[in-house]
Amino acid sequence: MNDFVYNTPTKVVFGRKAEEKLGALMRAQGCRKVLVHYGQGSVVRSGLLDRVREVLKAEAIEWVELGGAVPNPRLSLVYEGIELGRREGVDFILAVGGGSVIDSAKAIGYGLSCGGDVWELFERKRKVTGCTPIGVILTIAATGSEMSASCVITGEDGWRKLGCSSDTSRPRFAIMNPELTMTLPDYQTACGCVDILMHTMERWFYASGGMELTDRIAASLMRTVMKHALILRDDPQNYESRAEILWAGALSHNGLTGCGTDGGDWAPHKIEHELSGLFDVAHGAGLAAIWGSWARYVSSREPSRFVSFAQHVMQVSGAGTDAEMALKGIEAFEEFCRAIHMPVNMRELGVQPDEEQIAEMAQKCVKGMGGPAGKVVKLYAEDIEEIFRMAR
Ligand code: NZQ
Ligand code: ZN
Repeated sequence: MNDFVYNTPTKVVFGRKAEEKLGALMRAQGCRKVLVHYGQGSVVRSGLLDRVREVLKAEAIEWVELGGAVPNPRLSLVYEGIELGRREGVDFILAVGGGSVIDSAKAIGYGLSCGGDVWELFERKRKVTGCTPIGVILTIAATGSEMSASCVITGEDGWRKLGCSSDTSRPRFAIMNPELTMTLPDYQTACGCVDILMHTMERWFYASGGMELTDRIAASLMRTVMKHALILRDDPQNYESRAEILWAGALSHNGLTGCGTDGGDWAPHKIEHELSGLFDVAHGAGLAAIWGSWARYVSSREPSRFVSFAQHVMQVSGAGTDAEMALKGIEAFEEFCRAIHMPVNMRELGVQPDEEQIAEMAQKCVKGMGGPAGKVVKLYAEDIEEIFRMAR
């Protein structure tokens, strides 16, 4: 077992009408002026944004608004937010929406707090020194950004999708009302479920360390998500299942399912970020499309964690060699993806990169990492190219 630090300072307010607690939460922050950040309009259509405005008015808190964050949030809007925040003297950012809005808010927060060109933090030319405090009203179960230290932004210049992690960006509070996720299109619900699963799967595939309790928590989380993803496929308004998935999303990426390990592999995420950076696909669907190819490639060299995944997560029964068991687990996971209408290759995802684009993505992936991707097996550009080819 490895030593670890478990840091989850986010106050979670969970349940029906949780957003009604916003006033008290904002008051406790003691801020002067808030930037209310949102996406492309779902929170306008649902009336949530109007309710936020009412609360801020009632609390006599000044605010400015910036909408327009898109899936795979863009650097240009982050710059706009930083400029607006500086001009208006913003000292708190309220993200109302999904992972893209929250990540965009975190990047704006970095820019406001750290000064200079915020992109340099993502390019690892400078270190994060702080982040304007963030609060979240979550509308989709997926990324776990509501509790995580991570933030992923796409720079339009070269379509580079880069991450930047710092505990300073962990939200101060996260309001999670499962009912708010009921207006999601089925496709986004399924994408979110895959992303939640992957955040724990990435941690499951570690190369060193590990502890029984973490494995058991992780397996239970993954099995719970798969069960309720199937229920939501047939009954999207099921409150209990919405709640299970929403809470799983936060726990899956707040560090809990990686305690005592080396942190996990994360190559599928790095590879997918290149795919969604270049082709602008939904992150969860992109993960589903490449995971099987990554898993086949890596398990053929290092099967042990894939065998335990097959047994304890996918509950594959029967005997077989390690290679056979690993493959059965991978196939069972792909079957689950198909069952919730997620793609299991890039053709099903709707993208067909040519050789030049495959080479570009593989190069960018290794460059962005500053070396090979992954822990179970270290993947160099030629390995990543091969995985993309297998995923066609
Ligand atoms: O923009 P609006 O109109 O709000 O529509 C969104 C968007 O089109 C819509 N939506 C969200 N809540 C809704 C809703 N529509 C109807 N009703 C609701 N209640 O759903 C679409 C997807 O939203 P988005 O925020 O993009 O989804 P998600 O939460 O999956 O975020 C994806 C982004 O987060 C990054 C991904 O790479 C991607 O850029 N990630 C961030 C992580 C982190 N910060 O920790 C970790 C992840 O691995 C991931 O990389
Ligand atoms: Zn993810």
